[in-house]
Amino acid sequence: MSKIELIASSLELPNGAVIPNRLVKVAMEEGIGHGGGLPGRRHCELYRRWGEGGWGMLISGNVQVDPRHLATPHDRTIPSTSQHTISAYSALRFATLSSLPPDTKAPLLIMQISHAGLQSSSTIGASRLPWVPAIGPSSMRPNTGNSWAGKVVGRTLWPTKSRQIVDFAEWEGIVQKFVDAAVVAEKAGWEGVQVHSAHGYLLAEYLSPLTNPNPLPLPGVHWKIPVRLHLLFLILRGVHAATRREFIKAIKINCSDFVQGGLDEAQSAEIIKEIVSWRMVDVLEVSGGNYSNPGIVAFTDSQRPTSSRQALFSHFTSALLPSLPSPPEGPAIILTGSIHSRELIHSSLETRTCDLVGIGRPSCIYPALPRDVILNIDVPDEEAVFGGYHIRGGDWVKQALGGEKSSGKKASKGIPLVGAGVSTFWHEWQMCRLGRGVEPDINMSWLGAALWEGVVFAVIGAVLGVFRRK
Ligand SMILES: Cc1cc2nc3c(=O)[nH]c(=O)nc-3n(C[C@H](O)[C@H](O)[C@H](O)COP(=O)(O)O)c2cc1C
Repeated sequence: MSKIELIASSLELPNGAVIPNRLVKVAMEEGIGHGGGLPGRRHCELYRRWGEGGWGMLISGNVQVDPRHLATPHDRTIPSTSQHTISAYSALRFATLSSLPPDTKAPLLIMQISHAGLQSSSTIGASRLPWVPAIGPSSMRPNTGNSWAGKVVGRTLWPTKSRQIVDFAEWEGIVQKFVDAAVVAEKAGWEGVQVHSAHGYLLAEYLSPLTNPNPLPLPGVHWKIPVRLHLLFLILRGVHAATRREFIKAIKINCSDFVQGGLDEAQSAEIIKEIVSWRMVDVLEVSGGNYSNPGIVAFTDSQRPTSSRQALFSHFTSALLPSLPSPPEGPAIILTGSIHSRELIHSSLETRTCDLVGIGRPSCIYPALPRDVILNIDVPDEEAVFGGYHIRGGDWVKQALGGEKSSGKKASKGIPLVGAGVSTFWHEWQMCRLGRGVEPDINMSWLGAALWEGVVFAVIGAVLGVFRRK
């Protein structure tokens, strides 16, 4: 089988759904629109571009199940289970499939459902009054570093520590919100949901010994289920009961928090084996990091992997996969993180480091990456490389804002959140361009984009949005 044939091969999931090829556009907060809410015209245009790009699966940016707890001011939310909400997400699905080229199989559209937990900032998200705390399994503030600048950033983003949830009913309310979100996604015609249990958000906080040192056993869960997994179990069981079997249930989980005292790889491997044994998950994506160490998106040129063994979390998945049933008996495993060449995608699949490959940042610049490059027989392997580009002015901004440099200085020397933020914003601004119907620009300077995309077009978009709603 040739490299392209393997990458283009379909895969059956445990619930019987078939993913047309092995390429997944992973979840990325789109950065479009302000104040949270439902998807609009610019989201539709962005998803239309991905829809025609030949991806096997498209996972949306995080959609917050509770509009009061945003991860960013741009987050999409599930404000209610009303027909209005369903119609907005159904319009997004319709747009995604609206310009599917002939002979191209439709990508499976998955909604990432999320709760930002104690990482929800009241000042940046502006979804609560500044003194209203975030919520989580413990009372704390994300660690933004020990330098004075890091502390100022921490106090500005989180003026108060999170409020610890101690009431069972409040946890049950959160479970219900995830279930409601899945039902909205199903009614809107989406093929499934991905429950976001990574990156230090609420469900990851429940799993982590650092943020949940004394986990509460939740009512209605069998005693054999480890207590730390109760919240996730209730959510998956609820989603299972409320949706059809064909509706894909996916989760995204950290292989490690990469912070001292947080979830480590041995604990995560045990957690994943336990989750797989429940037989409620069709797709499992492995990720890592949280706001205290967001290594996943701060990955830099100098660290760019050249073989599947070096891809960010490949050592973890290659050790874990032999102990898990392969699809369709077990869930398909997505490996994400700097897998940015055909060669690397192929070797990751061939060595069964994963079943599906997740691609994030390059999809903001090349929305039709599968069709135009990865699966295009006219593009030779040595040219099918699409990562490692340099963000013009990015290093300077990182240093100026107190982040770490790309060229190898230890993340701990700066504010890691800033380093990851610089790359994240720049890619969001590329998505904003796509949403406006403008081509992405790989040479776009960070500061220029901050002015035009982050301020000028954002304000115009917000004003037009107000008029359209009237
Ligand atoms: C702009 C941007 C937004 C992101 N938003 C999310 C998100 O909403 N949910 C999530 O699970 N991961 C998010 N991520 C992480 C990506 O899913 C992915 O793990 C990361 O970009 C690494 O993959 P890559 O090396 O192919 O870019 C985001 C990354 C970027 C760059």
